[in-house]
Amino acid sequence: MNNWKFCLKNVLTEIRGIKVKENSMCGIFGCILKTGTAAPIIHQALKRLEYRGYDSVGEATIHEGKLFIKKDSGKIDEVHKLHNLDDMPGSIGIGHTRWATHGAPLKENAHPHVDCGGQIAIVHNGVIENFSQIKLELENKGHTFQSKTDTEVIAHLIEEAFKKNSSLRLADAVLEAVKRLEGSYAIAVISTNEPDKIVCARNESPLILGLAEEGLYCASDIPAILPITRRIINVDDGELVILTAEEFEIRKIADLSIVTREIKIIDWTPEMAVKQGYPHFMLKEIREQAACLRNTLRLQEHYLDLMSTFLDRSKEVFLVACGTSYHACLAASYMFSKLAYLATYPVIASEFVEQHGKSVNIDSTVLAVSQSGETADTIAAVNAARLRAATILGLTNVIGSTLTRISRVYICQQSGPEIGVAATKTFTSQLSVLAQLALRLAKKRGKISQDEMDYIEAKLKKIPEVVDLVINTQEEKVRLLARKYRDAKLFFFLGRGISTATAYEGRLKLMEIAYVPALAFPAGESKHGPISLIEKGVPAIFICPKDDTRKAILGNIMEMKARGATIITLVEEGDNEIKSFADDYIELPKGIPDVLSPIPYVIPLQLFAYYMAVEKGYDPDKPRNLAKSVTVQ
Ligand code: AGP
Repeated sequence: MNNWKFCLKNVLTEIRGIKVKENSMCGIFGCILKTGTAAPIIHQALKRLEYRGYDSVGEATIHEGKLFIKKDSGKIDEVHKLHNLDDMPGSIGIGHTRWATHGAPLKENAHPHVDCGGQIAIVHNGVIENFSQIKLELENKGHTFQSKTDTEVIAHLIEEAFKKNSSLRLADAVLEAVKRLEGSYAIAVISTNEPDKIVCARNESPLILGLAEEGLYCASDIPAILPITRRIINVDDGELVILTAEEFEIRKIADLSIVTREIKIIDWTPEMAVKQGYPHFMLKEIREQAACLRNTLRLQEHYLDLMSTFLDRSKEVFLVACGTSYHACLAASYMFSKLAYLATYPVIASEFVEQHGKSVNIDSTVLAVSQSGETADTIAAVNAARLRAATILGLTNVIGSTLTRISRVYICQQSGPEIGVAATKTFTSQLSVLAQLALRLAKKRGKISQDEMDYIEAKLKKIPEVVDLVINTQEEKVRLLARKYRDAKLFFFLGRGISTATAYEGRLKLMEIAYVPALAFPAGESKHGPISLIEKGVPAIFICPKDDTRKAILGNIMEMKARGATIITLVEEGDNEIKSFADDYIELPKGIPDVLSPIPYVIPLQLFAYYMAVEKGYDPDKPRNLAKSVTVQ
């Protein structure tokens, strides 16, 4: 490691840009210039990364051997107005826009984070799974922490490496630190010990380099760098980078072997770059669900355990939410019942007071689910329950939101900002969190065997791969289905058991972004009325995984088919019997437990709605009449 060689394979390749597969959580940026000041460049780059996270912001620069830091909670413009982010000396620096996952959006939790000596500064995007035990180990060695974040442990790990060997290069110390980390990270580190270098490292979270005459850059994403240079280098997982103002070097973390990588010329417009080359945020967010689900599997055990304890002790549990979040609650009611033998009552938030306002009491628990944490109907329902001394638990994507402030315990699902109005990645992440809660409750209550729990936990860990497989193998077929049925005037979405929730969600997606009228209800309900709507050619979409409901739903398919409906089924691959009755079908992988089936089975329905909207010439990101967060009742 001491004889760092700098290599730059100067092969220029014309491509249409880099597809970074990841979920937006925070934004990092670093720059090292031959001359001039870094701070204003960092500030502008952070502005271009603001869509990735915007509850806190900070910058660090080095000048004449001294570290300068400015950071605070709040949006970039607010923090700049307060602290003037451009007014920091030095031609080297790093910056960060935050989407909180560990620690509320407070000044002390904003990045950059530093070591005890204030000589090392770091910015990070990702989730460090094992930060609690590392933090305890470092505190026992005398390190004092300023924040509640997972990131700060990395700064102290680097400091610890220097304590053991003061002659280490910054890159060596960073290497030693990242080898301790479990989880996702893209980091940029500077130190007053080596003020002419930025050291970066990547695992799962995206990281790219920008090469220009005046200096070199690193960033989470292309938009930060595009106005500066179009010459980009992609950093892959398990790689460590050293940047100076003239050159860079990439090495593999595992064996320190040198990596040579071609320079790519990005020909995106800034608008395309913010969507990472996708035509719409909604498609980007559908495609990044696997990465989100990996981060959602890195929740802090302590909060899952605490929340499941509250649920275990409750006399009655209401699952309260709106829209897509309500559909997650509906699915969760099957999970809690099947795994933990806990009865829970999904309630649409705007109906909660009328339906349960008088009966909710001190023995009640309300688990409110809200991606934004600000939905007025949900907050109103929670406040009504609080007034009657009910216990409030929260599941949200936004730390610092109203829901986090009025909950006794809350969990952040760690999906990163969702820009598209239609909930997609936040829905599947909600389902994953709720499944993890149901599993912990099952363990507490001893209602299912250890083998069964291990089986489902193993399947949950594999869900990100399953989701990626569904997208990679079925997206094109779904796009063609949307084209085939683009003129249909009415759709039915039908499922049984937990797939009822999937049906409701598929219907909502189609209605809200393609404006197509659709019905959804438990398939067993068809004969109690709705089937009278069936005429020849009305498409009926059945969600039928191979679970206990399969036989019954086959009967429902037959009854619809007999009346002229066009049958579209989402089936487990190889289920030839159901496929034989379908006019069209989408196949999903085998072996998905019923309690987890809404996660992969909703993906084709999200894509169907998206491509139907595109077929009809609508903007899926900005559907008419809708807002991302409905803060009015
Ligand atoms: C879903 O696609 C919609 N955007 C909408 O139904 C949304 O789920 C609902 O408004 C609830 O929002 P929340 O999760 O932020 O509370």
